[in-house]
Amino acid sequence: MPDLRGQFYTDMLGICIVLMICLSAVHSQFPRACTTEAAFRTKTCCPLWKDNSPCGSLSGRGRCRDWTPLRRNKIPQVNDDRLDWPRFYYENSCECHGNYSGFDCGDCKHGYFGDKCDRKKMIIRREIRELSFLEKKRLFSYLALAKTTKSKDFVVLITGDRHHRETYRFIDASLYDVFAWMHYYAMKPILINNTFDLIKNFAHQGPAFPGWHRLAILFLERQIQMMTGDDDFAIPYYDWRGEKNCSICTDDLLGNNNAQGILTPYSHFSFWKAICSGFNYPDAYCPTADTEYKMERLHRKPGTTPYALNMPTFLDVENTLKLKEFDTPPFNETSLLSFRNALEGFLAPDGVTLKRSMHNLIHIYLGGTMSQIPISSNDPIFILHHSYVDKIFEQWIAKYNASPSAYPENNEFGQSPTDCITPFFPCYQNKDFIRKSTEFGYRYSVYNDKE
Ligand SMILES: *[C@@H]1O[C@H](CO)[C@@H](O)[C@H](O)[C@H]1NC(C)=O
Ligand SMILES: *[C@@H]1O[C@H](CO)[C@@H](O)[C@H](O)[C@H]1NC(C)=O
Ligand SMILES: *[C@@H]1O[C@H](CO)[C@@H](O)[C@H](O)[C@H]1NC(C)=O
Ligand SMILES: *[C@@H]1O[C@H](CO)[C@@H](O)[C@H](O)[C@H]1NC(C)=O
Repeated sequence: MPDLRGQFYTDMLGICIVLMICLSAVHSQFPRACTTEAAFRTKTCCPLWKDNSPCGSLSGRGRCRDWTPLRRNKIPQVNDDRLDWPRFYYENSCECHGNYSGFDCGDCKHGYFGDKCDRKKMIIRREIRELSFLEKKRLFSYLALAKTTKSKDFVVLITGDRHHRETYRFIDASLYDVFAWMHYYAMKPILINNTFDLIKNFAHQGPAFPGWHRLAILFLERQIQMMTGDDDFAIPYYDWRGEKNCSICTDDLLGNNNAQGILTPYSHFSFWKAICSGFNYPDAYCPTADTEYKMERLHRKPGTTPYALNMPTFLDVENTLKLKEFDTPPFNETSLLSFRNALEGFLAPDGVTLKRSMHNLIHIYLGGTMSQIPISSNDPIFILHHSYVDKIFEQWIAKYNASPSAYPENNEFGQSPTDCITPFFPCYQNKDFIRKSTEFGYRYSVYNDKE
């Protein structure tokens, strides 16, 4: 059953609305408990845990830590609120001890459970076509719940003009929409010296790409587990190797579309609308989120983009895995012989030709919402796609026995080895995701002999 904590939620909502009305400048960021006036004034995001102490410190779960001594602060005249995450908003935030985690240290690290978080768990992510009838029903009903259940813990930031911080405000969103928004938010152009850098962002075109998406999928999976109380729930993947057309784009799976690209009325997702539609404004954060009628329905047009008529092949994945270096200078979309750049798909699997391939090719191939990359996370096929991209990342980690030391120093904003991944709480460092998935409590099924 979804844990809505109705009264608590209603109270918090009331407080937030009052704050929104009363404060001239509300810089919002999740978690909800950190969007109070006091939290912004003191630049502190150390919510009280059940024991009534910040970050559960009385129970030894964590402590409220001042992170400013670690501040990089190398960038003069920074105006982007996400740089040096999350220190623009909060200088103090939770540091969780041992196996504890979560924005208030109230949860366990990925892969652990129990009151003391001292028990290891392991779930298996399967190819969607491996799921039984009941497992598919469970998946689609959980996704429907995630799309309609308001997040009690998190709110999302919106503004029509990022130059004016006093217009920033936060609003409620469903669990799924919080997830979709995080991708959008991490991907907005970076504001430096009052100019938008339209190429760089915090989740792509650099070494952060595989780890950012690994964490995002873990986040959604964990949110769904907590919402449903079903700790075994695992997000499935879509193994697209050698597909002739999107064979899971059928109404019993991810949904068929009509000639205009709109998902048919028989699809599980036909009523879904994309948060942050009209994404293509560098200066705004999600201007459509609180005006639902402006949100577009999901659409797809698989196999109709002239320069992306084929999906990656078995050989493409094999060749990508041959690239031994995790990433190479200049650590952006021009990197050669870079596993990351080939997996992300600015580089062909041959390691030397710069062209759309692998991950990027699937986005373009599927078209519609998926090809509008910042908001592509609105289409649930995104999570299956990224779960498979993560499986390939996992195969690479296993093949080369890779560890966080493979993560390179680089100059991309928010993508240094020790930068906190934008916009997650508590701080997760980029380098820490080059570890075996079993350390995060999941593994992948062997779906096809050719792997
Ligand atoms: C974390 O969990 C592991 C596995 O159950 C356990 O052995 C370890 O003691 C725990 N660590 C802490 C600090 O509680
Ligand atoms: C911002 O402008 C200052 C002063 O013109 C310059 O020194 C600095 O390099 C610029 N920062 C970036 C990141 O471009
Ligand atoms: C894929 O399927 C769509 C819809 O049936 C069709 O319009 C398109 O031509 C197909 N593409 C390829 C490459 O087969
Ligand atoms: C990649 O980095 C190189 C070297 O810093 C730079 O010249 C180039 O413009 C960058 N390309 C992109 C697309 O960011």
